[in-house]
Amino acid sequence: MTDSDKNTRFGVIGTGRITRRLVADLQSTDGVEVTAIASRTSERARWYADQYGIAAAVEGYQSLLQRDDVDAVYISLPPSMHAEWSIASAEHGLHVLCEKPLAMSAKQASSIDLACQSHGVRWLDATGWLHHPRTTALRDWIRDGRLGQVGHVSAAVSFYQPFQSGDHRLDKALGGGCVLDLGWYVCGLVRFASQKLPLEVAADVVIREGVPQRLTAMLWLADGVTATVSCGYDTATRKWFEVAGTTASLICDDFTRPWAERPTRCWIHDASGKVEGHTFEGSQERAMISRLVSGQPLAEWQQAAIDTHLILDAIGDSITEGGRRVAVRQIVEERPVD
Ligand SMILES: NC(=O)c1ccc[n+]([C@@H]2O[C@H](COP(=O)([O-])OP(=O)(O)OC[C@H]3O[C@@H](n4cnc5c(N)ncnc54)[C@H](OP(=O)(O)O)[C@@H]3O)[C@@H](O)[C@H]2O)c1
Repeated sequence: MTDSDKNTRFGVIGTGRITRRLVADLQSTDGVEVTAIASRTSERARWYADQYGIAAAVEGYQSLLQRDDVDAVYISLPPSMHAEWSIASAEHGLHVLCEKPLAMSAKQASSIDLACQSHGVRWLDATGWLHHPRTTALRDWIRDGRLGQVGHVSAAVSFYQPFQSGDHRLDKALGGGCVLDLGWYVCGLVRFASQKLPLEVAADVVIREGVPQRLTAMLWLADGVTATVSCGYDTATRKWFEVAGTTASLICDDFTRPWAERPTRCWIHDASGKVEGHTFEGSQERAMISRLVSGQPLAEWQQAAIDTHLILDAIGDSITEGGRRVAVRQIVEERPVD
């Protein structure tokens, strides 16, 4: 990404809750440093910069893009702002690490991809779990037939009312609601476990305070494989999945992020009740950041992000049509952000 003997210098856009965690991850990744942080207000930028030992506090996101001490950005804004600032960053020749959901739609996601390609910069969505060393093992077990033939996938992610005052999750215009916020994880898990797009989906939501606060969906994949997903803000924390095969099931209760003070873990249950437990080491965020700055191909993760948006688009269509079973579009039409 940059000369191998130089650090990749990140500028951070936004000062939200997740920023704190990712700034620490950026600062503790080899070959990476955080040189600037931008906020809508100079006071907030200064407070964060002082708090986290970042040299430059910048007022306004545009000003950060124009600095000559930044090679890459980490964008932690509400979802409706991801495409605009990812594309603007690419246009300034900056590599992009953008929070999930990557965008508001597959078209926007594809526009980010196109902008980065045409400006010769690299991008990843900040979906840490996809980069955990465990994820490689999960993929190999599924792909190599460790479970027999996969027939069903289920995933559930929830947080009980994780809102702060004025939370963007409760503002539809900012991309709020659980469909994008948490549907990102469960639909991404189905895409990961099957390594393909579903053919059709049907979805239902519970709306409260103007945004979806619970999503339940069924997905139909090729060869008779099915999936069910559940996510929302009205049950206690869940972050689990099951991939059920003809000879065993793969079960995980922490796939989005390990539980605090507990090892990253998962289990293979066979038909006789035998349980094989596995634990793993490593920071998924540092692995993700290293991958972005490494120069390794990223197409696999980029396609996964665009595909996840295609699934979410179809879920949105089904919700709009009262839960009707609708087709998942397989290709994104290339056009600029709406
Ligand atoms: N990867 C993960 O594990 C993970 C976890 C949590 C959240 N996320 C994602 O990270 C993103 C940010 O989430 P968060 O929880 O950190 O959000 P947050 O606490 O609401 O912060 C969002 C930041 O965006 C900026 N912003 C600009 N315009 C805004 C507006 N109109 N309303 C609110 N904020 C505005 C603000 O920074 P300034 O005021 O400084 O400009 C604000 O601090 C979301 O896409 C979310 O899905 C990812």
